[in-house]
Amino acid sequence: MRATAILMSTILVTGGLGYIGSHTVVELQAAGHHVVVVDNLSNTNAEVADRINTITNTPFAFHKLDVCDTEALAQVIQQHEVDGIIHFAAYKAVGESVEQPIKYYQNNINGLISVQDCMKRFDIKNLVFSSSCTVYGDTKESPITEDQPIVQAISPYGTTKIIGEQLLADFAQVTDTRIVSLRYFNPVGAHKTALIGELPLGVPNNLVPYITQTAAGIRKKLTIFGRDYNTPDGTNIRDFIHVVDLAKAHVKAIDFCETNTFGLEVFNIGTGVGHSVLEVVNAFELHNKLQLNYDFGDRRAGDVEQIWADTSKAKSVLGWESELGLEEMMQSAWNWQKQLS
Ligand code: WQD
Repeated sequence: MRATAILMSTILVTGGLGYIGSHTVVELQAAGHHVVVVDNLSNTNAEVADRINTITNTPFAFHKLDVCDTEALAQVIQQHEVDGIIHFAAYKAVGESVEQPIKYYQNNINGLISVQDCMKRFDIKNLVFSSSCTVYGDTKESPITEDQPIVQAISPYGTTKIIGEQLLADFAQVTDTRIVSLRYFNPVGAHKTALIGELPLGVPNNLVPYITQTAAGIRKKLTIFGRDYNTPDGTNIRDFIHVVDLAKAHVKAIDFCETNTFGLEVFNIGTGVGHSVLEVVNAFELHNKLQLNYDFGDRRAGDVEQIWADTSKAKSVLGWESELGLEEMMQSAWNWQKQLS
């Protein structure tokens, strides 16, 4: 009986046409969930809904709205029997958040408060929140576990995630809600069909879109920011995770909510393996059989030297672990870029 209850649940996905959101919608539908998507299209476009349908051949409701508009969000929830929410809708560009902190606090915090307001109004008990390893700030400890003290994020974007988790912890204390916060490491890659992937607007801040745009001739050259770090090859180390593995973690998380006791649980979502920037560049060249034009430049302000996840909690409690390696990450990223160009 329980399994049927979980499989037939209807999940509201805010920001569901975005990079991670769209891949999560695909995996939710594959797992038998009904899906309702809300998105204000500020960082994506409506065509993504058609592409998801092409992949899953399973219709879902899409409503264009801003989650900060609580009444609009409530109207959509009223139309559908929502059993749980996966909340992606937020701004996520670290550099932009430094230049425009108020825009980030207004959107990311008010958007979450609006979701919490609707959970109370409609007695929705299950929520998965999109958090980030940036909450760990400039940590020296890797692999990093969830019980590492959260001190100071390195950007307003990261601070909105720290505040978000605190809002959820306080909310869970006084409601019968079951909340999971997923702390993503570095999401990269694209769906194997190359129908959905990351749509970076403007010059990419992140490494892998910059690599693929350089390979496509859109950018002249990749600059690796810093080669004098205290790491084996001198470049930063990160935990790059395939976006499809990350999407599957959300399905495990929402199903876990249905079976969990009330309260907030936090999970690191990475591969548990650190790769240097230079290793990623070399993997991109090797697995796509091409030469990338790159050089080494100065360090980038705010970069953490090395960080990768201890993912044992997600494995033991959610029953989730990553399955895809650098080869699939780099090949899917390049296949996606090629169909974009
Ligand atoms: C990775 C490495 C750069 C670009 C991101 C998101 C953050 C969070 C974690 C979700 C760094 C180097 C980059 C370039 C380079 N994700 N780099 N040349 O900073 O780890 O954080 O993932 O919440 O929101 O921003 O990712 O891809 O920007 O950088 O050398 O042109 O690649 O110095 O070492 P980062 P990134």
